[in-house]
Amino acid sequence: LRVLSIASEAVPLIKTGGLADVAGALPAALAPHGVEMTTLLPGYPKVLRALAAPAPSPPAPPLPAPPKAAGKAKAKAAPTPPEPVALHHWDSLLGEPARLLEGTIDGHRLLVLDCPALFVRDGGPYGDAAGRDWDDNWRRFAAFGRAGADLAGGVVPGLAFDLVHAHDWQAAMAPAYIRFAPAGPRIPSVMTIHNMAFQGRYGPEIFPSLGLPTQAWAIDGVEYHGGVGFLKAGMESADAITTVSPTYAREIRQPAFGMGLEGLVIARQARVSGIVNGIDTALWNPETDPALVQSFSARSLARRRANKRALEAEFGLDQDEGPLFVCITRLTWQKGIDVLLEVIDHLVGLGGRLALLGAGDAALERALHEAAARHPGRVGLHIGYDEALSHRMQGGGDAILVPSRFEPCGLTQLYGLAYGCVPVVAHTGGLADTVVDANLAAIHAGAATGIVFHGVDYPSFSDAITRTINLYAQHDVWAQIQRAGMKTDFSWRRSGQAYAALYRHIAGTE
Ligand code: ADP
Ligand code: GLC
Repeated sequence: LRVLSIASEAVPLIKTGGLADVAGALPAALAPHGVEMTTLLPGYPKVLRALAAPAPSPPAPPLPAPPKAAGKAKAKAAPTPPEPVALHHWDSLLGEPARLLEGTIDGHRLLVLDCPALFVRDGGPYGDAAGRDWDDNWRRFAAFGRAGADLAGGVVPGLAFDLVHAHDWQAAMAPAYIRFAPAGPRIPSVMTIHNMAFQGRYGPEIFPSLGLPTQAWAIDGVEYHGGVGFLKAGMESADAITTVSPTYAREIRQPAFGMGLEGLVIARQARVSGIVNGIDTALWNPETDPALVQSFSARSLARRRANKRALEAEFGLDQDEGPLFVCITRLTWQKGIDVLLEVIDHLVGLGGRLALLGAGDAALERALHEAAARHPGRVGLHIGYDEALSHRMQGGGDAILVPSRFEPCGLTQLYGLAYGCVPVVAHTGGLADTVVDANLAAIHAGAATGIVFHGVDYPSFSDAITRTINLYAQHDVWAQIQRAGMKTDFSWRRSGQAYAALYRHIAGTE
């Protein structure tokens, strides 16, 4: 089965969040199931550079510096690379000339939409260095979707696909363009929602520029509350809708999680399912992770200590035997960072320390700086994006805090489980599906893998911190929780199989 995966980011080339981890891991996850996956990415500068000079793929995540820094730092003039061969030219893709380049990503086929007017800019994939979204994101990602649909329609001779898999709003116009294509065979499509909070909503004035037939302007087409909704259009047009955990697939039927699209989710319920993300065990394995000071496994937990000491030093924290909490996150309302700020005094008061790595909302950054200043040696902070540091934190922290208000899947708790960094999570979405709370029964059964609390507010989160610190003090119980997490299989094996089964069902080849 030949699948075209359309994603706006993918590890190791470009990443702002979990979508990149997932899009980067899918091709290898699907290969054992007879699925040959090709990934289509926008031609951002980083991606074009990687095409020009394909790096050998080391086990370490060779991730680039944060987009912010990249925006300011002046790019070094590299020697002119050889011109890659274009598989296709568009004279006008939503008004811009574009071409299709080919490469590989970790041994799998990569297609790149090279359209300098839309994608070659300083800053991040969606906005400028100051974090402001580009004004023309609708054009950038409509063009991206259009290119995907053209590929699905066979615009490149010799390059054929059986199915399209579109990720998030940035790729969501692909299923819509396929559905409203004037003629020809229509290949089936799967629309995966990684986060309902980002929908790609624009005004009605963009509709004429999309190049869609007038019948697409309809309640069951791209029209959404009088404007254009990209994610909505993808969800209306795709043959199957998935999201990244079974619990989130249920939650998005409610307004608080569906964020306006709950009615559509309910209407298409028979086609909605949840497949939990796996983790890429080639990149996330404490036995082989080159970012760690000391490698370790479930059988050698004592070796984590060297990582903990190094992490304390790196964050300027006191060295002691108390629990070291970590948090690796985008700083947003979704992630419950405001509530984390409220519990910091409690956490420190009970003898805990906190190391936080994150970037995002400026007000949250300021408040975190204040908290760190209030608790020297107890609260350490790194503002920014640092892939290697995130690995060292999983390897050296005792517990990872994930107080999300909603979390479609969540990956940092999975990395925590794999690294013996016990997750303390809110009961929502994929967090609820992947962490087993250390209540007495679960501890007794040897099934507990973390601490789960209900409701993202001060009483429940501070109570979860108290429970965690008490469990940590019981060394045998704590080690049992760590080992149970490390033994849980969160590889892509099962989820890869689930996607393959869905593809075959949709493509009618099962
Ligand atoms: P989301 O995609 O909603 O941000 P996930 O938990 O699915 O949440 O994925 C986040 C990914 O981004 C993880 O791989 C996590 O380690 C990484 N990450 C988040 N913030 C940072 C940061 N400041 N530095 C390094 N990695 C980060
Ligand atoms: C989104 C979600 C996160 C999920 C990730 C990958 O960014 O917020 O929960 O893990 O996508 O699917």
